[in-house]
Amino acid sequence: MKINILAIESSCDETSAAVISDGKILNNIIATQSVHEKYGGVVPELASRAHQQHLIPVVHEAIASSGISKEELSAIAFTRGPGLMGSLLVGVSFAKSLAFALGIPLIDVNHMQAHILAHFIEEPKPSFPFICLTVSGGHTQLVLVKNYLEMEVIGETTDDAVGEAFDKTAKLLGLPYPGGPLIDKYAKTGNPKAFKFPVSDMPELSFSFSGIKTAVLYFLRDNLKENPDFISENLNDICASVQYTLIKMLTQKLIKAAKEHKIKEIAIAGGVSANSGLREELTQLSSKFGWKVFVPKFEYCTDNAAMIAMAAHYKYLKGEFCGLDVVPEARMKI
Ligand code: KG4
Ligand code: ZN
Repeated sequence: MKINILAIESSCDETSAAVISDGKILNNIIATQSVHEKYGGVVPELASRAHQQHLIPVVHEAIASSGISKEELSAIAFTRGPGLMGSLLVGVSFAKSLAFALGIPLIDVNHMQAHILAHFIEEPKPSFPFICLTVSGGHTQLVLVKNYLEMEVIGETTDDAVGEAFDKTAKLLGLPYPGGPLIDKYAKTGNPKAFKFPVSDMPELSFSFSGIKTAVLYFLRDNLKENPDFISENLNDICASVQYTLIKMLTQKLIKAAKEHKIKEIAIAGGVSANSGLREELTQLSSKFGWKVFVPKFEYCTDNAAMIAMAAHYKYLKGEFCGLDVVPEARMKI
């Protein structure tokens, strides 16, 4: 009998469902919520409502396209946290009801662990132990990955996540949400040394991204006073310079972590790992330090249920299930 798991992701603003069969991802259906664009950020109340609307069609599509019937499912998996409480509740309640109705086990998955386990969806896969830099809209963490479900956070941000720094800079530049991919796009033709922004000086393996947001705010305010067209005339250079600074802050800690732990297998995960500047920089660092670098396929970088399914597969093999009384955890730790 095959292990077939239906996984549901609803932690932020993507409603997603995926089916995994004996460790092989069969599909990864994602409904993106465009409702947040005009607000310049995710509006939690609207996200929960959109999850309610999208979840059943997304699950139907995942089951229909998998060729596996509901009755052949071995377990239902869901994101328990971290994330927005209202969004998590929609996925958790749905997963519980379905598992109860089908009389099959329920598997709770940590979203941050799942971002890392996205590396095991396809070849090439890292070998243990490796260091993963997880960079998303809500998190910036350096994780020592000892095994599939054994992970230790060795460094993290003390304030904003790097994705937030990208998005908030984009907002100051008048770009729509989420601005990270747009900064990436404009940065491609800009000069990264055109403007200088401060690189935060944090102890050990900690990060801080709130300073750069303020620095960009004052920088724009001062320059716009002199020239009201400053942003439109310098957009590419501003994006390239901010992106360069953010990448520098990430990689200097990554280098430190790799040295301290004597590890040369390096992975990146989370939405910001889609950033082309970060990917390029990692290629440079891999030849400089002899690292083996692992970057997930684009569709597995941002929030998706395939990564939840992958994590659920390993939990199933270890018999790690949860009860129907499980509750979501907005601040769930790895
Ligand atoms: O992992 P994710 O999809 O959701 C969270 O769990 O937060 O990450 C979303 C974040 C957003 O801040 C978005 O702007 C950023 O990832 N992002 C990027 C790029 N693509 C997505 N940031 C910079 N460059 C990109 N290409
Ligand atoms: Zn995420």
